[in-house]
Amino acid sequence: MATSAVTDAQLIQQARNAQARAYAPYSKFPVGSVLLLDNGHVVPGCNLENASYGLSMCAERNAVAGAIVGSGPRGVADAGFTIEAVAIVGKPGEPCFPCGACRQVLREFGCKRVIVEDEEGLRSFKFSEELLPYSFGPESL
Ligand code: THU
Repeated sequence: MATSAVTDAQLIQQARNAQARAYAPYSKFPVGSVLLLDNGHVVPGCNLENASYGLSMCAERNAVAGAIVGSGPRGVADAGFTIEAVAIVGKPGEPCFPCGACRQVLREFGCKRVIVEDEEGLRSFKFSEELLPYSFGPESL
């Protein structure tokens, strides 16, 4: 979906919509996320669990997979987008921060900001400064 000037509140709302699609029968901890891409696209993801627990996948990484498959014809070495922001929701009123594995995957695509919600409202964090400083990425190779 292409949008212009989407607000953080709208992104959190769309993450809530995605959370309603979570498949989380084991943890019973549904998570929803949306990516705002630099091309204006907003891509949702939800967590997807499995009876073989270790195969479960987080909402954020499923959103990244959706962004990749939806990014149109391009070379294999270039995703064709960067991530302006990711909005994540878990338990109501409690901030749901991305796990370490998701931080590394989001970092691959230049994620700039993480938006979560706590009991006082929306909070925005700078990705590379606050969530994953001193990181390893494509330009480290
Ligand atoms: N989970 C996410 O989808 N994203 C997060 O940021 C934290 C954890 C999922 C994984 C698992 O399905 C459930 O939440 C409990 O850990």
